[in-house]
Amino acid sequence: MALRLHRRAWIAAVLAVLLLCGCTALKRFAYEGFGRDSWQKPDEVLAALGLRTGDRVADLGSGGGYFTFRLAQAVGPKGKVYAVDVDSSLLDDLAERAKEQGTGNVEKVLAKYDDPMLPNLGVDLIFSSNVYHHLEDRVKYFAKAAKYLRPGGRIAIIDFRDAGFAGVIGHATPVELIKKEMGEAGYRLEREYDFLEKQSFLVFSRPGSRGGLVNSSLGGFFGDSAQRHNTS
Ligand SMILES: C[S@@+](CC[C@H](N)C(=O)[O-])C[C@H]1O[C@@H](n2cnc3c(N)ncnc32)[C@H](O)[C@@H]1O
Repeated sequence: MALRLHRRAWIAAVLAVLLLCGCTALKRFAYEGFGRDSWQKPDEVLAALGLRTGDRVADLGSGGGYFTFRLAQAVGPKGKVYAVDVDSSLLDDLAERAKEQGTGNVEKVLAKYDDPMLPNLGVDLIFSSNVYHHLEDRVKYFAKAAKYLRPGGRIAIIDFRDAGFAGVIGHATPVELIKKEMGEAGYRLEREYDFLEKQSFLVFSRPGSRGGLVNSSLGGFFGDSAQRHNTS
């Protein structure tokens, strides 16, 4: 037992050093590990999101792209997925893989720590997996991010529950805290899924969100989008 803990501590320490050294492949491994599909249930997550062909999605904190490519497949070639991250080496690696695979609907976006820097046209969904606990001043962050949502747009947040290993090392957020902060940022909880054993999975909308950056002359088109995503 003690030996196994000792070995785990060594592996964690070696990974931490390599991450600090900025090795992109190792960062991807650290985020994704072995056998992630069994607990991450990506197909069920994608099904729950109910994306439509042509949707525009931001994968906030895209990391190694675990969800980026799945989102890209879900929205199809007429849709768009913005891989949004503050780590330019991960973004470059992801863009390179998208090119190699012929995935033409993924675009990288180098974010600021306090702003996802999305394009003016806005998105139908801001999706974030295992990123919420990394963000600083989250109420301000998501209140500001509302300008990137098209009317009817949603924010989906998956994060580790504040229990187990992730909680111990601070890579988790209590689900009630996410709800409270998103409420303070002006969002309404639309759906809460409980099929992920280690993580909470919440979907929010923002009543009255008008997609502040988009041209109001496009309102008719976006009005259709709002109806499509009305889950209430
Ligand atoms: C634990 S990884 C999650 C990666 C991916 N979403 C996944 O589920 O595999 C967290 C990612 O969030 C990124 N990140 C941290 N703070 C960020 C911020 N303020 N804006 C955008 N990305 C951020 C990190 O660079 C890292 O790639």
